[in-house]
Amino acid sequence: MYKALIGLFSNDLAIDLGTANTLVFARGKGLVCSEPSVVAVKDDPNGRERVLAVGAEAKAMLGRTPGGIRAIRPIKDGVIADFEVTEAMLRYFIQRAHNRSKLVRPRIVVCVPPAITSVEKRAVRESALSAGAREVYLVEEPMAAAIGAGLDVTAPTGNMVVDIGGGTTDVAVISLSGVVTATSIRCGGDKMDDAIIQYVRRKYNVLIGDRTAEEVKMTIGTASPHAKTQQMEVKGRDLVAGIPKVVLATSDEIHEALVEPIGSIVEAVHITLEKTPPELAADIVDRGIVLVGGGSLLNDLDVVLREQTGLPIIRSDDPYTAVVHGAGFALDDMELLRQVSFE
Ligand SMILES: Nc1ncnc2c1ncn2[C@@H]1O[C@H](COP(=O)(O)OP(=O)(O)OP(=O)(O)O)[C@@H](O)[C@H]1O
Ligand SMILES: [Mg+2]
Repeated sequence: MYKALIGLFSNDLAIDLGTANTLVFARGKGLVCSEPSVVAVKDDPNGRERVLAVGAEAKAMLGRTPGGIRAIRPIKDGVIADFEVTEAMLRYFIQRAHNRSKLVRPRIVVCVPPAITSVEKRAVRESALSAGAREVYLVEEPMAAAIGAGLDVTAPTGNMVVDIGGGTTDVAVISLSGVVTATSIRCGGDKMDDAIIQYVRRKYNVLIGDRTAEEVKMTIGTASPHAKTQQMEVKGRDLVAGIPKVVLATSDEIHEALVEPIGSIVEAVHITLEKTPPELAADIVDRGIVLVGGGSLLNDLDVVLREQTGLPIIRSDDPYTAVVHGAGFALDDMELLRQVSFE
């Protein structure tokens, strides 16, 4: 009852600032925003950038902008590539989550990649403060994902989480509220999209866009060479004739295109297992590996990881929201939040 009341009056937020998607969870309300991490800006005559659109509206503009307008993904490969635009995006999402009401200055938890530098940490913290936060807590994404997937992160037991996002794949072993070993590679869903673009270009001399490649990946992409063959029409531009062209791609071809990025992800899991202390490794044999992140939805990825590691693979029920839900959960448990966050 008391907690419900606090929830009503607090504006506390948890934010998963992802390469591909930004999600916002409001305490006492749940998920209030889930949008692509894209900002459309227009350069005005005095050389400054003006924000035109943020989120889904801006994503629709990707690859389709006329001169003077740019659709930017400010976070690339899991790192902040454009500070100013990231800050503008963060402010937009925070204001939207609050419906522009400014009752209480909120506590904000921001989930950040484990590989983030101290300069980037400061930038994220300052962006959140300037957007109206009272206190800012940074939590590593794999930690938040583990909490969101329902694992007891405070117990003296090893848990492995693999978060396959847009820009990065983070593999982490968590025990006693801390990350014991972790590997972060700049390979995730975006690299898979790139691999598909390269493949179609080499094989058919046709150039396809990022969004088309992503659609192909989600529809007929597979991690397994043994999957049932499917086909899909793919539209792009013929590089020789210069005109639009449709090619019929098969899932076998897309699998071939994805061999390399998937190999990197499997390798990151192996490397992390090798670095894991034996007692924790023993726990992982019993408990398995939990998969989160949108990229974990790739067809048969769980099957391939099971074959390659011999370990049980558990797909999270909500791969997209595990991170933000974990951070949101920590908003209700200050003790836990203090243990898992850092300065
Ligand atoms: N069904 C699917 N099959 C394959 N990939 C998918 C599927 N659905 C989503 N994805 C991919 O998941 C990725 C986005 O995942 P997610 O939202 O977890 O990333 P993110 O958290 O923004 O990125 P990061 O954690 O690297 O910062 C995109 O590359 C998207 O194409
Ligand atoms: Mg993520």
